[in-house]
Amino acid sequence: MTSARPLVFPTALQAPGTAHGDFVAVLPLAELPPGTMARVSRGDLDLLLAHTAEGLIATEDRCPHMSAPFSEGRLDGCVLHCPLHRGTFDVRDGSVVTFPTTGGLDADGEYRPTWTPPGGTSKPPLMPEDPKARARAQTRVRRLRYYPLRIQDGDIEVAWPR
Ligand code: FES
Repeated sequence: MTSARPLVFPTALQAPGTAHGDFVAVLPLAELPPGTMARVSRGDLDLLLAHTAEGLIATEDRCPHMSAPFSEGRLDGCVLHCPLHRGTFDVRDGSVVTFPTTGGLDADGEYRPTWTPPGGTSKPPLMPEDPKARARAQTRVRRLRYYPLRIQDGDIEVAWPR
């Protein structure tokens, strides 16, 4: 069920610096209908606001794989779809649902192989000693990090890191 309330995220995944950050108004709630996403920026930090099926979240507008902006991707219920490499993430616990096609390390450090989507063209494998192959294999896809948010006077407010 869709609700205009903050989603309760795992406390261990709260973004660094936000525990004592000041709440700042970033967007009128009316501009984020259920099922939509928006990027908000301040300084050099870009956040993604998403009105998911389980509530509102704020997370970095950078995929934990290779930093593509989620705001150019898709929100499907509680799943964020990155516009690159087919990675998907569950906003309820920050975990990977579909690992990126490039493979790499998961949040726990386990290696996940490359894969080709159905109907996709498989590329010739890179030699293991190729720096690009090594970089892909060593890229860790961590869980999402969350920025606390609240709704005040019709605005979405986010705890901005100090
Ligand atoms: S940058 Fe998001 S899956 Fe690769």
